[in-house]
Amino acid sequence: MYYNYLQMSTLLIGNKGQLGTCIENIVKKKSLGELFFVDLPDFDITDENCVKSCFFDIKPDVIINCAAYTNVDKAEEEEEQAELVNTFGMKLIGYYSSQINAKVIHISTDYVYDGYSYKPINENDPVNPLSVYGTTKLDGELMLFAENLNSLIIRTAWLYSNYGKNFVKTMLNVGKQKEEIRVVYDQIGTPTYAPDLAEVIINIVENTLKDKSFFVPGFYHYSNEGVCSWYDFAVLIFKLAKINCKVIPILSD
Ligand SMILES: NC(=O)c1ccc[n+]([C@@H]2O[C@H](COP(=O)([O-])OP(=O)(O)OC[C@H]3O[C@@H](n4cnc5c(N)ncnc54)[C@H](OP(=O)(O)O)[C@@H]3O)[C@@H](O)[C@H]2O)c1
Repeated sequence: MYYNYLQMSTLLIGNKGQLGTCIENIVKKKSLGELFFVDLPDFDITDENCVKSCFFDIKPDVIINCAAYTNVDKAEEEEEQAELVNTFGMKLIGYYSSQINAKVIHISTDYVYDGYSYKPINENDPVNPLSVYGTTKLDGELMLFAENLNSLIIRTAWLYSNYGKNFVKTMLNVGKQKEEIRVVYDQIGTPTYAPDLAEVIINIVENTLKDKSFFVPGFYHYSNEGVCSWYDFAVLIFKLAKINCKVIPILSD
């Protein structure tokens, strides 16, 4: 499936996921050149032949990668699968994107940090993932950069939207079924509306297609403003949705 506008082309990987859907919703209304969308089951970033033939067939100028193994808890038991997708998949994307001279915009996560800092984390702070998910995402960042220096990595956090699985949707469902729920208050973060991040990514692509020097490879952090705990977030979601469910703050342990 593609929308034909200018002469440049962009490939979006993982268009059926939460962020991918938000990006697709925006780009359909824009003049971004030719756009191609791929996701499982037809396109698998861990399948070398699949990645190679897709990249060489399309020869996109820019690749946006939203595909990932994103189940943070399950990754602890499924380390091999998380590593295969988040690390090996990024090696393939990096290698074959560099073969066709494509720029890559890749999405990563705050889980590459240990979270012990009580101030906003900036891009130069040391990484130290504590989970399998965070480790595989960090290794994926490094793999991508090792293979293609023309990569721009955006680390984000706590995405929510109308699409995919996310905390807001989970709370809205659970809140309607239960009188009270327990939510942790000792993990804080910056909830980020996925369509806002999608706008930022599309802005980068639009400007890069007009002027290649706009694209500055490296690591970037993006989240919405404001900070809260999962507990605070749940309380506000119920308040705004007028759901009468008591939220009990608990420790992660
Ligand atoms: N969600 C968050 O709170 C959050 C926070 C920080 C960073 N991020 C990062 O942001 C990016 C987008 O997240 P999201 O919330 O949009 O995730 P998502 O909804 O889980 O979407 C990921 C997409 O990737 C696809 N996928 C999984 N394995 C694949 C493979 N081997 N080949 C091709 N596609 C594959 C998934 O397909 P299936 O559904 O069929 O598996 C899904 O369509 C990810 O890199 C994630 O690590 C997310």
